[in-house]
Amino acid sequence: MARALLRSGALALLLVVAVSAASLPLARSDDDDDYKRCEGVVKGWADSSAANENGADKLSLKDLLFFLHIPRTGGRTYFHCFLRKLYTNDQECPRSYDKLRFDPRSPDCKLVVSHDDYSLMSKLPRERTSVVTILRNPLDRVFSTYEFSVEVAARFLVHQNLTSAKLMTTRVLMKSCAVSTLDIWPWKYLVPWMREDLFARVCLFTSV
Ligand SMILES: *[C@@H]1O[C@H](CO)[C@@H](O)[C@H](O)[C@H]1NC(C)=O
Repeated sequence: MARALLRSGALALLLVVAVSAASLPLARSDDDDDYKRCEGVVKGWADSSAANENGADKLSLKDLLFFLHIPRTGGRTYFHCFLRKLYTNDQECPRSYDKLRFDPRSPDCKLVVSHDDYSLMSKLPRERTSVVTILRNPLDRVFSTYEFSVEVAARFLVHQNLTSAKLMTTRVLMKSCAVSTLDIWPWKYLVPWMREDLFARVCLFTSV
């Protein structure tokens, strides 16, 4: 169960949407599958928010939408199935997922998506901005965070040892201009930690 929380100035709107954790990984290979999947997800959201509507809340979307993407809340699905259909590529602010290089001065952009926290609001025109975020049961988030950090760390096992895994990571991070998972909290801390643990276990297994 996840909740999308929408704040627009003084008016705080609470949209309750059901986002099942199982719907997070997206099938990108097959467009039809992808469409069906998104259709189901969006209908589910619509139904659950209709059921929770108390009439007083009116959604008033401002010029700029800031989607505050808290990790492991189904934000990727929300972005892919919902925001991607509402906004064109051109309407997304350049480098919006990238805190350090994000430039809010781009005049025509309408969508900012960020893993950053609410402090990003200080860079945005407050009176013209609506904020949406998704909340999820914190315990589910902890388990999901654990699983995802092990999954990402395990990708490094293609390297022979920890030293060469670290070396490759540094090289890739320096070359790439896109935001890497390893730049983002909490993966920034958890993945290197899990990676070290996984390599230590590999050593144990191969030395017996
Ligand atoms: C780690 O692996 C690389 C090859 O990928 C090798 O050249 C290096 O000697 C290894 N280092 C250790 C400490 O085993």
